Amino acid sequence: MSVDSAAKPLTRLADYRPPAWRVEAIELEFDLDALVTTVDARLRLAREHGDAAELRLDGEALELLHLDIDGRRLGPNEYTLAPGGLVIHQVPPRAVVSTRSRIRPAANSALEGVYLSGSLEDGFLLSQCEAEGFRRVTWCLDRPDVLSRYTVTLRADRARFPVLLAGGNPDGRGMLDGGRHWARFVDPTPKPSYLFALAAGHLECLEDTFVAEDGHTVRLAIWAEHAEIARCAHAMACLKAAFAWDERRFGRRYDLDVFHVVATHDFAMGAMENTGLNIFNSKYLLATPDQATDEDYRHVLAVVGHEYFHHWSGNRVTCRDWFQLSLKEGLTVYREQEFESDLASRTLRRIEDVRTLWRVQFGEDAGPLAHPVRPEQYAEINNFYTATVYDKGAEIVRMLATLLGRDGFRRGLDLYFARHDGQAVTIEDFLAALGDANDRDLSSWLAWYRHAGTPVLEVEGHHDAATRRFSLTLRQRAAKGDAVVRPVPVAVALFAGDGGRIAMREGEDAAPCRDGVLLLDAAERTWTFHGVDAPPVVSLLRGFSAPVRLADAADGTALALLARHEDDGFNRWFAGDALSRLLFAQALAHGRPDAAPFEGWIGALRAAFADASLDPAILAEMLTPADEGSLAEPLTEVDPDAVRRARERIEGGLAAALAPSLMERYEALASATEADMSPVAQARRRLRNRCLALLCCADDAGVARASRHYDEARTLTDRLAAMTCLAQAGDARAEQVLAAFAERHAADPLVLDKWFALQATIPRPGTLERVVALTLHPAFRWENPNKVYALLLAFAQRNPSVFHRPDGAGYRFIGDAVLRLDAITPQVAARLATAFGAWRRYEPLRRALMRAELFRLDARGGLSDNLADIVRRSLDAS
Ligand code: TRP
Ligand code: ZN
Repeated sequence: MSVDSAAKPLTRLADYRPPAWRVEAIELEFDLDALVTTVDARLRLAREHGDAAELRLDGEALELLHLDIDGRRLGPNEYTLAPGGLVIHQVPPRAVVSTRSRIRPAANSALEGVYLSGSLEDGFLLSQCEAEGFRRVTWCLDRPDVLSRYTVTLRADRARFPVLLAGGNPDGRGMLDGGRHWARFVDPTPKPSYLFALAAGHLECLEDTFVAEDGHTVRLAIWAEHAEIARCAHAMACLKAAFAWDERRFGRRYDLDVFHVVATHDFAMGAMENTGLNIFNSKYLLATPDQATDEDYRHVLAVVGHEYFHHWSGNRVTCRDWFQLSLKEGLTVYREQEFESDLASRTLRRIEDVRTLWRVQFGEDAGPLAHPVRPEQYAEINNFYTATVYDKGAEIVRMLATLLGRDGFRRGLDLYFARHDGQAVTIEDFLAALGDANDRDLSSWLAWYRHAGTPVLEVEGHHDAATRRFSLTLRQRAAKGDAVVRPVPVAVALFAGDGGRIAMREGEDAAPCRDGVLLLDAAERTWTFHGVDAPPVVSLLRGFSAPVRLADAADGTALALLARHEDDGFNRWFAGDALSRLLFAQALAHGRPDAAPFEGWIGALRAAFADASLDPAILAEMLTPADEGSLAEPLTEVDPDAVRRARERIEGGLAAALAPSLMERYEALASATEADMSPVAQARRRLRNRCLALLCCADDAGVARASRHYDEARTLTDRLAAMTCLAQAGDARAEQVLAAFAERHAADPLVLDKWFALQATIPRPGTLERVVALTLHPAFRWENPNKVYALLLAFAQRNPSVFHRPDGAGYRFIGDAVLRLDAITPQVAARLATAFGAWRRYEPLRRALMRAELFRLDARGGLSDNLADIVRRSLDAS
């Protein structure tokens, strides 16, 4: 895994050249075996550009057995093997290059290429190629702008590998001598190498069909190991819903005859959209009420949708190069958000997305790992599967959808898919298609893709009583002090002092405003509204219409009014959240929040309790102040202990002020304990569990209630909610409950992940020692990313006061873990190492300790490219 300490050379967008060679077809034959697999590849090549006879093929961790051109075996002086590839000196303009190589799946812990999931005796084989894993399968041109037709033949021992799967349509199968069998798959549509996939082993199948509007029937098959196949029903329902939704909402159809999904516990990310053979982290596929939480149910819906939607946004129309990654990911995250919004709760999904955007993406954009949505260079592409590329990318698509309107955006996407089907394209192509379909020039939007940093929005209102006019000036300021102007759609509403909406009648001189959306397409603009009797309260960025920060020093009275009266559900929550942040800032500065804004906040929450039309899930969100990470994000010189104390003050004040309402609602929702997984039932459970948690801050009776809640729980959601309360309260019963829970779910790695994460995030002094001990628990495995994320990443990201212990022990522990993981799965090590990325924002002592930890990692020779890249970028900008 480890490489020499020389930094991997940068790949630059400016250096992009079209491929010199086309690979028209690839025929692959695998003789599968967990220890040693043989791969025969035949590449039908045609020279496209230039007249160089030399051909360079990518290849890593491959053992080359032989190499032929047009059937002639090459001698050792006709090619050169170099790290990362193979150069063949003389290749005719059209040629068939054949290679035979050996790979070792069971020894591959990188989770890229072909590897083994589970044990040597009965685990199964699978592949992961995005971004550059196909070069660990065979010698190839491993870049997304080389599209080829794939024919894949798998051969294996039938008893050991009864199921053989690859992407594309099935094209025959049969028996061979010696108890072996074979199966062939043909993918009729040319695709890039990163979308290749196979799976083989003891897998069972849940089958169904989807009939498209035009009558085309698709066979749907979800594959999992025997013990888990019974947990796939929810995923199947989600898959069918995704097929139907994409057809209805975006006119997208699926063209192959089969769609396979495979579940594995050994996966570095969420899931992978390989054409016709999606591969999923089990965490995002398996769901039953006893073994998955309500949140898991929603994640399954979202991720199953996401991977399916890639069929068009990613696969049929793919990326020219990896700089364009957001072309597929930003667009697909947006489509996934819309899917969940249409099927479940739009406001809830928006609140969750914006919370993550603020906590993760804004933080990333403000630190040393900041990069544009379309980066200009990278050393290691795996480190660019980030919140910026995914979530900020989705925000840009959302802004474009707001700008063009629902129909205009649909027209634009239709044109994009029609124009570029079967091509590998760029973000410019995307903007051009959206623009052409709407007779607009969208080139100014490239600024959002090209420049890192979160812009700041300044707002100034002026009311003129004599003319009854209200003018609103919006100004944008780039965070990094550059003069870049981005188009910013600002959705606005005006409210009167009694909470009523004021109609927005524009003056003739004003810049255009459509459906309440002001397009700030310059550094500054002013809009004037007529017939406004008194100074209004302005509700800005409704639905969070743009990923910007508001510069406004918040006005507590105005926010309290909006938190009561805003009819945009998101902005009602947004106002309450802003108010709680104001209170937090006051508590941080002088120990307690000011009385008047605090009363305003509580008043708005009382009104929310009394509002029978309010979705209980949204009320639960209104009762949940931002977490410590999110509250600290905009600060400098962060002291995590002070942040935690100030937040507890706010939450404790809330719980004390609202205790009777919380108690009353907790009792009223008693029926929410049923194992009903409908969105309505989930929303009720969410509110009930939030009441429970707040009541635990209030007094000891709250803890007793949590204990009862645990005993009566009929869903995993309730059991975990109660156990979290007990553990966080440091209650005596916690240890006993934790032990009982571990015993009850001993056979279930996904549920144990929650048990690990729950303990890793207890904000108490002994937690570091507990986490260290848990790394020795028999169920913890360093090779398994889910375990590492549940225990170590959760600790580093979601337990700030313990991770940032002033003695540096938390840093040292995570630093050691990063080094240990780097020898196993470099991608995972690199991700964990981002926990040190924000070091510059901490108070001097922690800053020095975090930096020293990064230096210690850097000084250690032989880091993987993945880890070295994160460590160096984290330090470089210093
Ligand atoms: N493309 C995948 C998605 O849908 C994510 C992905 C990228 C991935 N690289 C990966 C998954 C490596 C697993 C391993 O977002
Ligand atoms: Zn994706």
